[in-house]
Amino acid sequence: MTRDAEEAAPAAWLAAQIEEASAAGIAATVSRLIRDGTLEAGTRLPTVRDLAPRLHVGPGTVSAAWRALREQRFVEGGGRGGMRVAGSVGGPSPLRYTNITRYWSPDTLNLSRAVPDPALLPDLAPALQHALTDPKLHSYEVDPITASLQAAAASTWPFPAEAWLCSRGGYDGLLGLISTSVVAGETVAIEEPATPRLLDILDHVGARVLPVALDDDGPVPERLAAALRHKPVAFIYEPRNSSWAGATVTPTRQAELAQLLEHENLLVIEDDAWGTLSAEPYHGVGALLPHKTVMVRSYSKSHSPDLRIGVVGGAASPIERVRVFRQFGDGWTSRILQDALAWLLTDPESQATVTRASEVYTERRQRFAALLRERGLEVHGGDNLALWVPVRNEHQAMLVMASHGIATIASSASWSGRGPEGVRVVTAHHVPELEKVADVIALAAQAH
Ligand SMILES: Cc1ncc(COP(=O)(O)O)c(C=O)c1O
Repeated sequence: MTRDAEEAAPAAWLAAQIEEASAAGIAATVSRLIRDGTLEAGTRLPTVRDLAPRLHVGPGTVSAAWRALREQRFVEGGGRGGMRVAGSVGGPSPLRYTNITRYWSPDTLNLSRAVPDPALLPDLAPALQHALTDPKLHSYEVDPITASLQAAAASTWPFPAEAWLCSRGGYDGLLGLISTSVVAGETVAIEEPATPRLLDILDHVGARVLPVALDDDGPVPERLAAALRHKPVAFIYEPRNSSWAGATVTPTRQAELAQLLEHENLLVIEDDAWGTLSAEPYHGVGALLPHKTVMVRSYSKSHSPDLRIGVVGGAASPIERVRVFRQFGDGWTSRILQDALAWLLTDPESQATVTRASEVYTERRQRFAALLRERGLEVHGGDNLALWVPVRNEHQAMLVMASHGIATIASSASWSGRGPEGVRVVTAHHVPELEKVADVIALAAQAH
């Protein structure tokens, strides 16, 4: 029986399909009916009130099934409109992060992704050559990190780490930590604006997000104190060059935040996205509370996205959970890539290349910001590779820019609720005729 979109699946019919009237059993039957096409996209599901009595279960059982299906993106909606079969059934998906990039014309000037300029990355050839000398090369032994990468990371780590792990980039480290430390329904405090992918990860694990506002000096203590009243299991923030806001925690703020967090039973996760590329000093709370902090440092922007390396260092037990969880999958990161990065981190010429890249990114960002300010825009914040531009209407601004062949990303993806309208403009690359691009952005900012 194929059900047409928009039509409601009758409760009696659905109840008859369900063999096991538990939350898991209901969810399993409905997901099978969706997968095999019996329930098409758009089909309304019966209400909890209609279905529960037919299955002789309480409303909570059906609600739990609907919740599980929603988390897996099989269904969407809720409230008065009821629950519907989702338009694209693809399992869990980072909805804010995945965008329409694949539909863009190759001529589009893509200012939406903060990726490094390949010309500013260190040369990988000698590093990879050196990495082949690792005595453990070709071993199947599961080590969380190689000795050389641990030593190289430790030499610039801002606090003594109890444990270390090499992840496949920064977000993989965050995903591992969050999935193994947060149970669905638990609350997590995060600074906002946050990266779209962090919000996606938190949705994926079913966390309830407690936003903590930022100012130029990092998370605002009063706002963190308010979030802590809800007993979050984790607090996640970027200690320097935060995405969107460009905030860097100062020593005064560091002490204020550490005082608030000191007696809380939670995990502090520090996202150090720019790592050695950052021109800002680190004053994170990890330096004061190393036993409850884990820092995830990405080397993708500084050394190459294709090394796919993040280093996770800090409190022992959350890192151990990630190490164990990883045994379901790849277990460890290629020793070749780890040792190549370790070599780059200690080679003076490569260190100089990263320092130079940081200077060039700063120059490019400042030049872009100056051009926008000359056009009356109040640009502020911005991390290492991007700027944040307030606009009157994000959607219209993006349409105006798209009509001129320019792609940016809307700020709404960085808020769990509603935030100020804006677009994030990547400044990391050499753009010919930057003045003309600035003209278009200034035009777009006025659109409403
Ligand atoms: C705020 C933030 N955290 C972490 C990362 C980690 O990046 P990757 O997974 O590419 O190493 C990024 C990269 O864009 C980022 O912007």
